Amino acid sequence: EERVFSGIQPTGIPHLGNYLGALESWVRLQGQHGSVLYSIVDLHSITVPQDPARLRTSVLDVAASLIACGIDPERSILFQQSQVSEHTELCWVLGCLTSIPRLRHLPQWKTKSNRKNEGSVGLFAYPILQAADILLYKSTHVPVGEDQIQHLELAQDTARIFNQKYGDCFPIPQPLLSVTRKVKSLRDPTSKMSKSDPRKLATVNITDTPDDIRLKFRKAVTDFTSEVTFDPENRPGVSNLVAIHAAVTGQTVEEVVHQSEGLETAQYKHVVAEAVIQKFSPIRAEVQRLRADAGYLEKVLSRGAEKAKERASVVYQEVRRRIGFS
Ligand code: TYM
Repeated sequence: EERVFSGIQPTGIPHLGNYLGALESWVRLQGQHGSVLYSIVDLHSITVPQDPARLRTSVLDVAASLIACGIDPERSILFQQSQVSEHTELCWVLGCLTSIPRLRHLPQWKTKSNRKNEGSVGLFAYPILQAADILLYKSTHVPVGEDQIQHLELAQDTARIFNQKYGDCFPIPQPLLSVTRKVKSLRDPTSKMSKSDPRKLATVNITDTPDDIRLKFRKAVTDFTSEVTFDPENRPGVSNLVAIHAAVTGQTVEEVVHQSEGLETAQYKHVVAEAVIQKFSPIRAEVQRLRADAGYLEKVLSRGAEKAKERASVVYQEVRRRIGFS
C-alpha cells in the first residue's frame, strides 16, 4: 500500500516555490494513494527563533493556504506536527541511531547556523525530526522540492539502519519531485526562492496582490539578451520565468517558449506576471475567506491531529516493542 507524507514550515504564507515545488503535487496526490498526510511542522520552525504570536498566526495562515490551494481535509489528513507527540518521541529514538558527522553537511545546519547564532541542538537535529515525521507513518512517497532531497536521503538511511538493527519495520521512502522542482529567487536566479530571503522583491507569496506580483516580475533579474529561451545553465533568470509560466498555465516549457517568440524579455515579464495573477487570484480570495474563520481552521487541525495520532501510535507502539521498551 502507498502512503504519502509531506510537511511545510509555518513561517508565513507559502510562496510560489512552495506551491510549484510541492503543494501542487500534494493536491494531485489526494485520492490516488492509500493514505495522505500533510503536516504543518511547527516543531521544525522553532529551530530558529520565532515570535510566539506570529507563530500562532502562521500555523493558521498555512492551514488556510493549504486548504485554499486544494488540500481537502476530508481526503487527506491535515495536521499540526506538535499536536502529535509521537513525532518527538520517534525523533529521539532515531537520533540515537544517527551519527554526528552524518548531520554536519546537511543544508539547514550549513545555511542557518552562523557565528552569531551558533546553532542550536534542535537545528542540528532538524533532519532527524524530519525522518521521524516520514517514518512515523511508514510513508512510501514524499512529495518535496529539490532542496529537501538530502533530508530524504537521511530518512532513507535512518530507515535502513533501524531495519537492520531491529528487523524490517520501515519502507524506504521515495521522494516525488515535480517538474518545477526548484523555483529561483526573482532577485538572484542562482539561488532558490525562499521565505527567509530578506530582499523584498525576491519572493512571490501566493496571496500577493496583483500590483505586488506585477512589480516583482517587472524587476526580476534577467540578462542582457532580449529573446525568450529556456536554458537554465546559461540563462537562469529568463529560464526561471519560463518555468514559472509553464507551471502556472499547465503547459510545457516548449509550448511557452514557442508562444513567446518575438517578445522582448521586458514584455515577457508582463505576460508571466499576468499568468501568475490569474492562477493565484481565486486562491488569494479563498485564503482571505478562510483566514477570517480561525474556529474552522482549528477544528480541521484538531480533527487531523486525532486521525494522525491514531496511525502514529500504532507504528510507535511497534517501535517500542522492537527496541525493547515493552
Ligand atoms: P519548507 O517549509 O521549507 O518548504 C515546503 C515545501 O516547499 C518546497 N520548496 C520549494 N520547491 C521548489 N522551489 C523552491 N524555491 C522551494 N522552496 C521550498 C520544499 O522543498 C518543501 O517540499 N524540511 C521541510 C519540511 C518538512 C518535511 C518533513 C518535508 C518537515 N518534515 C517531512 C517532507 C517530509 C521544509 O523546511 O520545507
